[in-house]
Amino acid sequence: MIILASTASAGTTWPSSFLVVAAVLVSGLLLAGPALRRRYPVAWWLLFGLPVACCRVIRTWRPLMAGCGLAVSRRPALTVVSGLVGKGAPPPQPLVPRFGFIRPTAGGFWLLARLLPGQVPNDFVKAAPAMAEAWGMHAVRVAPQKPGTVRITASVTDPLAYPRIPKQRGPVHLLRVAVGALETGAAWVIDLRRIPHWLIVGATRSGKSTLINALVAGLAPQPVALVGVDCKGGMELSLYEPRLSALATNREQAVRLLAALVDLTLDRMTVCRAARVRNIWGLPEQERPVPVVVIVDEIAELFLIASRNEKDEAHAAGTALIRLAQLGAALGVFLLVAGQRVGSDLGPGVTALRAQLGGRVCHRVADPGTAEMALGDLNPDALKAAQAITPEQAGTAVLASGDGWERARSHLITEADAEAIAAEYAHLTPHLPELLDAK
Ligand SMILES: Nc1ncnc2c1ncn2[C@@H]1O[C@H](COP(=O)(O)OP(=O)(O)OP(=O)(O)O)[C@@H](O)[C@H]1O
Ligand SMILES: [Mg+2]
Repeated sequence: MIILASTASAGTTWPSSFLVVAAVLVSGLLLAGPALRRRYPVAWWLLFGLPVACCRVIRTWRPLMAGCGLAVSRRPALTVVSGLVGKGAPPPQPLVPRFGFIRPTAGGFWLLARLLPGQVPNDFVKAAPAMAEAWGMHAVRVAPQKPGTVRITASVTDPLAYPRIPKQRGPVHLLRVAVGALETGAAWVIDLRRIPHWLIVGATRSGKSTLINALVAGLAPQPVALVGVDCKGGMELSLYEPRLSALATNREQAVRLLAALVDLTLDRMTVCRAARVRNIWGLPEQERPVPVVVIVDEIAELFLIASRNEKDEAHAAGTALIRLAQLGAALGVFLLVAGQRVGSDLGPGVTALRAQLGGRVCHRVADPGTAEMALGDLNPDALKAAQAITPEQAGTAVLASGDGWERARSHLITEADAEAIAAEYAHLTPHLPELLDAK
């Protein structure tokens, strides 16, 4: 009897104590939620954000596909047959693309979707903003995975707002520098042996010099010659002067220095031809000339002309740069060209030069023309992403190459840091008398 009574009372108190505990937990979470979310964003996302997002994806997939024109109606005949067989039952639903497992990431998720016949990945790219809205995500990106399949990647916050600095793994490779973080969380690596020449554009204070600082900081400890062309009077590049093998600070010097670099390249060509190799990497290590990285800050200063005399100089500088870009990659001369505004109005040389600069980095730009110049021959989506960068996101850029585009942000390497690194490695500066004579 006693046992029965106690069991009955436990049965009535159990749900109520459970409810009390649940209520305490929920109110605790509500109160401490914002602080916990800020402190442990990844755990918060995986525990609470992701399940909600998964429910949203599953619930909204069909209407989303229909709303974005990605659903395909069944054939009318099938609809009629189903009406006859089903005796007035609703006709079959339109076909929608199928999607696979939702795979979590530290700041979002990704999934694969199968295209229906007649669809192309670009149809899904256009639907990406609608997906972001429907799933309550910061951004959704769509990229082809393999024929017939697209990869849809959603991020809950802008991963570049506070990029994590990925750990440098493995040995340092020659001419390869981790300069920042990619949107995916991976390191943003500039590898000059893979893509030898780069165009870096962006409005004033958009992050061009910070990216160059990161590059110089990574290259300074390597056996590489750095050469600067800074026609803003040397204001930007003179910081690294102890580690530079040569620096030109006005157009006259720049023309002489670039001409000397062309001569150096042609000399290397003669050496390679005599050794019957196609590039300097084919030469024995002890005979291999040192790689030269030429940094040009503010390309417009080289090309803008006010007088006839300047026209000849601008033309000479442009021609030398194009020749360096054409011949340099195989002969160990690499170009990093930065500019605020890079447009065809600077002269025909600029368009020809752009064609040779395979790597493109587009920071926030003041005019759509510059973004078009940097990214225009690529996906129009990349253009939109570049134009959406705000002044608060300095250092954020859209990277483009033949393979596609992605967003990234450079590490904040200040001028003081860059200056200190240049001074630390000044003893590694290769002595190139043929360039110094040009000054
Ligand atoms: N990756 C970054 N992360 C955070 N802040 C950055 C980053 N890059 C740049 N900034 C901020 O933006 C400021 C301007 O950057 P930077 O000097 O590189 O611009 P710039 O494009 O070279 O400008 P200018 O054309 O005037 O030379 C920096 O002082 C820094 O405060
Ligand atoms: Mg600058």
